[in-house]
Amino acid sequence: MDQHVLTIDPTGAERHTESAYLLAHGPATRVDILGQQAWAVADPAVLKALLVDPRVSKDAAQHWPKFPDEIVGKWPLALWVGVSNMFTAYGTDHRRLRRLVSPAFAARRVAALAPRIEDMTAQLLDALAAVAPGESVDLRENLAVPLPIQVISSLMGLPVAAQQAFRGLVDAVFDTTLSPQEAGANAVRLYEVLADLVAEKRENPGDDMTSLLIATRDEEGDGSALTEQELLDTLLLIISAGYETTVNLIDQVITTLLTHPEERAKLDAGKAQWRDVIEETLRFEAPVAHLPLRYAIEDIEVEGGLTIRKGEAILASYAAVGRHPDLHGDDADAFDVTRPLKDHLAFGHGVHFCLGAQLARMEAEIALRMLFDRFPDLAFAPDAELRPLESLISNGHQRLPIVLTPAGAAAAAVD
Ligand code: HEM
Repeated sequence: MDQHVLTIDPTGAERHTESAYLLAHGPATRVDILGQQAWAVADPAVLKALLVDPRVSKDAAQHWPKFPDEIVGKWPLALWVGVSNMFTAYGTDHRRLRRLVSPAFAARRVAALAPRIEDMTAQLLDALAAVAPGESVDLRENLAVPLPIQVISSLMGLPVAAQQAFRGLVDAVFDTTLSPQEAGANAVRLYEVLADLVAEKRENPGDDMTSLLIATRDEEGDGSALTEQELLDTLLLIISAGYETTVNLIDQVITTLLTHPEERAKLDAGKAQWRDVIEETLRFEAPVAHLPLRYAIEDIEVEGGLTIRKGEAILASYAAVGRHPDLHGDDADAFDVTRPLKDHLAFGHGVHFCLGAQLARMEAEIALRMLFDRFPDLAFAPDAELRPLESLISNGHQRLPIVLTPAGAAAAAVD
């Protein structure tokens, strides 16, 4: 077995080269993630099997021998593996923590949010329409970021000051170029803001998920429903999932459609629907590229004579999985909105399947449909330079400089 170790690029700049290497290398590849080794899995069948295997856990405290001594204060991604919420919980703890939140993401509840999301989008587009024609505007900063933040803030009942405070702090959680000290200082500040939020909502509860979680904890005074740490970390998970991931999906759909005009034409001609564009983008540019971490509870034999040993870490490499020819054919590297098979793993698989998948899909569809209806001629600004976010996890761009022409304005100018 080839024991070459691939260093995962923390700046995100080498993502596609990295994916190609992982795909060529077989079911699992030894990788170095900021100094810690793991098995990156990019084969869809192998990854799916691992994601439902009870011998695979996300609970570092129970199942990663390196945690906490070699990780806390020493590894920049310590927060990702050290939190106490459903994201890192195993077995009955996972079921307990997920059940507290999942009713809020039930299909009917989410569908009922559509009119509110349309109103929020309309307001953001009104502001964009006020930009002088021909002037460059950053669509990430002015649409892709604020819409998901407004939606999650409304669900969680976040006061404006908290919304603003979380912005930079959550961005930094996804920035994988920070040192362990910088990431640690960011986490300290993040917990201060979370504690302030809980204190404020304990005092003045509202009709929102933060207040509901606090009430659940406080009614069971012995902490049997969730501990104070689990409360803070559950809020952190939902806020950060809401702040970062859908942003990248909206960003990637805009970018991919503008760089593939022939695919945009299929959409305009009715040969594909927005739903198809969104699913193809999730496959082609998975918004969560690599997801740290999982651990083998026992030795696990993977195909090809490979064994993942007890205590070794596993990295789900969703961006590479989306380009795997076994699942998507020899043209897996092509963006094709009419592709029939949309079976990607961008939202994960198994018990940790993304709780916000339906919300994310709906938000993206509303935002994109309304954007392209209102500004059908939108185009990259002439000097636009697309730089990836500095993250091995988050797959988006630092900025999306766009020039907008409102529908009808181009024709009016010709008249
Ligand atoms: C395009 C947008 C999104 C993408 C690509 C995405 C992706 C993912 C992925 C890949 C996982 C599984 C992680 C694993 O391998 O264990 C996950 C889990 C999760 N996501 Fe999302 N997510 C998105 C949006 C959201 C939103 C909007 C929310 C909520 C507001 C959300 C809440 C969660 C939660 C709570 C989990 C943890 C579930 C568990 O561990 O049981 N996500 N997401």
